[in-house]
Amino acid sequence: MNRRRGLDFRRAGGRRKISNVVWWVLSAIVITLFILILSKATQIEPRPSIPERRYRHEKLVEGMNMTEEMLSPTSFARQVNDQIALAKAFVVIAKESKNLQFAWDLSAQIRNSQLLLSTAAASRRPLTVLDSEPTIRDMAVLLYQAQQLHYDSATMIMRLKATIQSLEAQMSSVTEKSAKYAQIAAEEVPKSLYCLGVRLTTDWFQNSELQGKLAERSYALASKLTDNSLYHFCVFSDNIVATSVVVNSTALNSKAPEKVVFHLVTNEINYAAMKSWFAMDMDNLRGVTVEVQKFEDFRWLNASYVPVLKQLQDSDTQSYYFSGHNDDGRTPIKFRNPKYLSMLNHLRFYIPEVFPALKKMVFLDDDVVVQKDLSALFSIDLNRNVNGAVETCMETFHRYHKYLNYSHPLIRSHFDPDACGWAFGMNVFDLVEWRKRNVTGIYHYWQEKNVDRTLWKLGTLPPGLLTFYGLTEALEPSWHVLGLGYANVDARVIDKGAVLHFNGNLKPWLKIGMEKYKPLWEKYVDYSHPFMQQCNFH
Ligand SMILES: *[C@@H]1O[C@H](CO)[C@@H](O)[C@H](O)[C@H]1NC(C)=O
Ligand SMILES: *[C@@H]1O[C@H](CO)[C@@H](O)[C@H](O)[C@H]1NC(C)=O
Ligand SMILES: *[C@@H]1O[C@H](CO)[C@@H](O)[C@H](O)[C@H]1NC(C)=O
Ligand SMILES: *[C@@H]1O[C@H](CO)[C@@H](O)[C@H](O)[C@H]1NC(C)=O
Ligand SMILES: *[C@@H]1O[C@H](CO)[C@@H](O)[C@H](O)[C@H]1NC(C)=O
Repeated sequence: MNRRRGLDFRRAGGRRKISNVVWWVLSAIVITLFILILSKATQIEPRPSIPERRYRHEKLVEGMNMTEEMLSPTSFARQVNDQIALAKAFVVIAKESKNLQFAWDLSAQIRNSQLLLSTAAASRRPLTVLDSEPTIRDMAVLLYQAQQLHYDSATMIMRLKATIQSLEAQMSSVTEKSAKYAQIAAEEVPKSLYCLGVRLTTDWFQNSELQGKLAERSYALASKLTDNSLYHFCVFSDNIVATSVVVNSTALNSKAPEKVVFHLVTNEINYAAMKSWFAMDMDNLRGVTVEVQKFEDFRWLNASYVPVLKQLQDSDTQSYYFSGHNDDGRTPIKFRNPKYLSMLNHLRFYIPEVFPALKKMVFLDDDVVVQKDLSALFSIDLNRNVNGAVETCMETFHRYHKYLNYSHPLIRSHFDPDACGWAFGMNVFDLVEWRKRNVTGIYHYWQEKNVDRTLWKLGTLPPGLLTFYGLTEALEPSWHVLGLGYANVDARVIDKGAVLHFNGNLKPWLKIGMEKYKPLWEKYVDYSHPFMQQCNFH
């Protein structure tokens, strides 16, 4: 009896628990309804239901699949990113509402989240739950508080979004315009340069003595070209004066110039002129060896092997780059410049093919000046990486997501959007590792995937970021100082820099070049040379 009663009692207790749960749920629903009604009643402006639908619509357009998103290896990074974006909006609202303490809290948490992302990017592995859970939770608490403060009200966010959009529109129209003009100015081949090319070419074919001198010297130096105990540099360029500055400045600042070997590759048009220039100048280069080739001589560089050449034969690509009328000018002019498809630009992806006997190569762009001895570059340990380069993500915008189309599933699934970008212009390449890891094959894979230009639009940096992803070793930043062709660079940084890079449109050999940086470059130009004088270089 007793036992049974006990049982009944327990059952009754169970029933009581169930009814408790029902009670709680009911009261929760009532409270929610109450709050809903209250908030409706207190709202002065009607709360539009459009934003939410719009949001969903955008998702569909971008082809985002939430299931896929959650399965994607970068999804924690994405969550953190989304939180950061929302938090940034709330910071603005908090400041507008004079809630400075809360704005400060949000900003601090934003920095925490960014730190998490950049640490993950630096360690080159996706975020795990364990790494990200505390940060995501802390941020969620703040975002929840923001919602309590009604910072998430639809009208508030709409108003903010409109402000941001109009600011962005203003910015992009200004930058696009100025970029367009600078590009046109930059593309105009300076008359003097053209004159010099013609002058040198004529001289070359008339001057058999010069030809003989070069031939004799080439013969004597042939063994140096493949000697792996020397310092090998390559420059791929059609600009004689710029190339001359690279070679001259390296020679003058080298502690062991006799161990420096320059491998220049140019095109058919400039081949004779370039040979002529360096044959004349040979005696002033402190024993530096210079070899000149033209890419038209490379038999392996043909459309069946090289995707860029194959794509150039495609009429669609040709009209994209050369006619420029098929998208209402939406693509900025510089994206369409045939220069970005030029073979001299893409040769950097074939260095092991161009120099089959070499093991290590320092690649220099033609718009650099060398200020220090570079021999130490050849003994830097690249930790079995292929590319040694300086990173450029000190500013947050030089990360992968800036260069690549992250709406594309191939990009999304392979590359961390917050991975740090790096620069071409002064790179140490380990050609042994390059061959071993079939890096050219990786480059071909991505170049072929981009036949419709949906992964990236222009240039060699985006395919470079894809090709050398996880194969790049960060070098000390003073090895390669960037920005002298478009930005203000700290004078102390310039002073310490081993290689200065005039990347950007304001090249030092152009009228539009930045006057304050021109002397760094002009120092290495021989303006008294008769040909330079005849061609009005000054
Ligand atoms: C989303 O992706 C998952 C896994 O890739 C797939 O099973 C599902 O059908 C997709 N859903 C939609 C709506 O495309
Ligand atoms: C094109 O390049 C490939 C691979 O480098 C080579 O095998 C082939 O002979 C070349 N074709 C021509 C026509 O030269
Ligand atoms: C290198 O990669 C390409 C393209 O991915 C492939 O066709 C080729 O067989 C690879 N070569 C070697 C030696 O693995
Ligand atoms: C980015 O990739 C998506 C998906 O392939 C494509 O629809 C879109 O046009 C691409 N964007 C650009 C700017 O090419
Ligand atoms: C190389 O630079 C030196 C000094 O900076 C200069 O005197 C010389 O004329 C330059 N040589 C050439 C060929 O430009």
